[in-house]
Amino acid sequence: MRLDKYLADMGTGKRSDLKKAIRRGEAEINGEKVLDPGRAVPEGACVCYRGREIRYETYVYYMMNKPAGVISATEDRRQKTVLDLLEEPVRKDLFPAGRLDRDTEGLLLLTNDGILAHRLLAPGRHVDKVYRARVRGVLPENAAELFREGLRIDSSLTAMPAELRILQVCPGDCAETEVTVREGKYHQVKRMFQALGCEVTALKRLRMGTLELDPSLEPGQYRRLTEEELEALKQSGEVKKT
Ligand code: URA
Repeated sequence: MRLDKYLADMGTGKRSDLKKAIRRGEAEINGEKVLDPGRAVPEGACVCYRGREIRYETYVYYMMNKPAGVISATEDRRQKTVLDLLEEPVRKDLFPAGRLDRDTEGLLLLTNDGILAHRLLAPGRHVDKVYRARVRGVLPENAAELFREGLRIDSSLTAMPAELRILQVCPGDCAETEVTVREGKYHQVKRMFQALGCEVTALKRLRMGTLELDPSLEPGQYRRLTEEELEALKQSGEVKKT
């Protein structure tokens, strides 16, 4: 792979800027200053840019506790995106695997691994997604049963069977609940509660497949997945079609 592409892939800058920087002598391969942006990087070589070692990684995986108020997109001209929250050099091929609404918080996987993302998200994969939802309104007594049977959301959509646990009923017709769904339709959880005459006032994703939100991550914080998390997640994406 060319040196300028290697560095660009690792998020160190735009290819055009990198070419200039390399020509100025800011990059090294195995300790040797390299002025040609097109120089091939040998397998396993040590590449340094501006004095910092840059290791090549084909795929990267981050878990983020998405805060409310940012959108699950790679770029937007008006609104802040989840990628805008990353501080380290951001690879240009990174994307959020799945979407959470702007006002939803919680677990979001950021990766450049399209195959894993597809395995987790493709309709028919039915990977569990667990949410904590605060709802306003009076839930029918048989709400959990209705969720389990597959709620009719509107004339064109019936949700797949889902689980509802009512954790706490609070004063003023409000409840803390935990919901497990196996599909990811637009506004899925909000629309399911709406179908019961209730409104979701706060929503947070806690789990996707085997991947659980690290409770030490504050909203807006993120970290790399551990090897164990990644391995388990890959396997959960291999769930058979049901
Ligand atoms: N369901 C919703 O309604 N919103 C989300 O962000 C995720 C699931």
